[in-house]
Amino acid sequence: MIYPVVRPLIFRLDAERAHGVALRALKTMPSALLASPPLPQASLASEVAGLRFPNPVGMAAGFDKNGEVPDALLRCGFGFAELGSVTPRPQAGNPRPRMFRLAKDRAVINRLGFNNEGADAVAVRMRRRARIDGARDGIVGINIGANKDSVDRIDDYARMTRTMAPYASYLAVNISSPNTPGLRALQDEGALTELLDAVNEARGAIRVPVFLKVAPDLEPADIDAIARIAADKGLGALMVSNTTVARPPLASRHADEAGGLSGAPLREMALLRLRDFRKATGGTIPLIGIGGIFTAEDAWERIRAGASLVQLYSAMVYEGPGIAAKITRRLPELMRRDGFSTIAEAVGSE
Ligand code: FNR
Repeated sequence: MIYPVVRPLIFRLDAERAHGVALRALKTMPSALLASPPLPQASLASEVAGLRFPNPVGMAAGFDKNGEVPDALLRCGFGFAELGSVTPRPQAGNPRPRMFRLAKDRAVINRLGFNNEGADAVAVRMRRRARIDGARDGIVGINIGANKDSVDRIDDYARMTRTMAPYASYLAVNISSPNTPGLRALQDEGALTELLDAVNEARGAIRVPVFLKVAPDLEPADIDAIARIAADKGLGALMVSNTTVARPPLASRHADEAGGLSGAPLREMALLRLRDFRKATGGTIPLIGIGGIFTAEDAWERIRAGASLVQLYSAMVYEGPGIAAKITRRLPELMRRDGFSTIAEAVGSE
């Protein structure tokens, strides 16, 4: 609510420092000062991968890399929050500056490179959280990655699965960050099969759903292969998509920075990829639409195109922590307008 007032001040800070301020605000300020979510609305609730989501708007990975504020995000009106990416060992990431606001484009470029405190530190935080009454009610996913200098990346994902499965509502296997050299090669058919077998074995008796997060920069043949393997390996959902290495025309001065582009310029591309995956999966695997979602209209378009849930990050940078509340307040109107009474009915109805 106060974000429009403080935004000019925050935007005078370098993007990564501004992110630090946002995390501190979420940690210390009462959520009522940050957002005013509507009361839970039955029409927005849905079940995906066996989990009951109170609304379809989630916080995407990368905002809360170390699991410091999941419950504050949920209190701000997000239907679910995703931590990470977390890697087995702590990792400093790339040299700064490594995160850039492209304000004229309502976009962000980042090449953070999986900076995070590592699995042990995040597990300690999650164990503490699990002891707090009621904290476990909210849906908190954990996004897992591999260390940059790992000699066996597939083993990193297996280890992360073992460490994090007990604390996660779902695991998001992230093989689509452009900022860890070679990581995206795990999207190739052979590597992906091996990776998901390792993850499935590592989760053992813990039946936590496994989601896979893919890049928007995929060819039609990759999409068909991923869809097939996802079905074979029993994935709970496909997350479409991560940031892009493509550079559509941009107006801001940081346009040529290396890294992954997110926000408004990613919107069309992420929507097209979502439609590709909807076609390739035939609606058999739930999809999560991510990329350039700023408004209820954007979220609704993604749902109609096949997304059971959506996530956002860049819109939080430009609109502040009230963004989920703003979207979920307006969504029911759009549903009524188009004659739908539940989200599930609308998924893929375009
Ligand atoms: C990200 N994103 C991301 N994704 C992921 O799986 N693991 C991560 O650690 C990160 N880190 C990260 C940092 C920053 C600064 C940004 C902007 C983004 C990608 C994010 O979750 C999302 O997929 C994209 O940003 C696209 O959504 P938006 O931002 O266009 O809503």
